[in-house]
Amino acid sequence: MSLAICPGSFDPLTLGHLDIISRAANMFDHVVVVVMANSGKNPAFTVQERYAFIQRSVCDLPGVEVDTYDGLLADYCALRDATAVVRGLRVMSDFEYEFQMALTNNSLHAKTETIFLPANREYMFLSSSVVREIARYGRDISTFVPRAIAADIQAKLCGKEIKHECG
Ligand code: COA
Repeated sequence: MSLAICPGSFDPLTLGHLDIISRAANMFDHVVVVVMANSGKNPAFTVQERYAFIQRSVCDLPGVEVDTYDGLLADYCALRDATAVVRGLRVMSDFEYEFQMALTNNSLHAKTETIFLPANREYMFLSSSVVREIARYGRDISTFVPRAIAADIQAKLCGKEIKHECG
């Protein structure tokens, strides 16, 4: 069975992420979307919130599981005996960081191969931080994130309580 890992900080999940996840699901028997820490980022959403947003957004995608892991991606790949890590590439500036990450993960666990998928043209400009910025000013984000989670993302960033904690 081929198993792909789609790792990310997902702060929050966007339609760009979801596009990569669904394309990975067409290529592999099983896909695990794993919420991890990026030491360079201070997340706006808790791990549980980010996990629940993804869970609610992928429930219609067969063969897709959601998980969280507080550790190295290479160790998680070894734990799950993963076939590959799948990451999206938007622009050339993503490449340097992604290439370094892929080589590091491969040196930590030789079986960890990374596959890059070009981001969908529609989402090239999109990022989680852009979504957070727009939501904080009260503008509609439902064309940038899955509809099911848009209101809860907006609520949290405007200082309100999230209604649906879990998927
Ligand atoms: N379309 C549009 N936007 C996309 C996208 C796509 N296909 N794919 C990613 N993005 C955006 C995201 O929205 C996000 O935006 P932001 O920078 O404003 O937050 C950005 O690109 C990348 O974020 P994301 O993919 O969510 O995760 P990340 O790059 O923060 O994740 C980890 C990095 C978690 C995978 C990495 O830090 C990691 O492996 N951590 C575990 C510890 C470890 O092993 N460290 C050693 C690594 S060598």
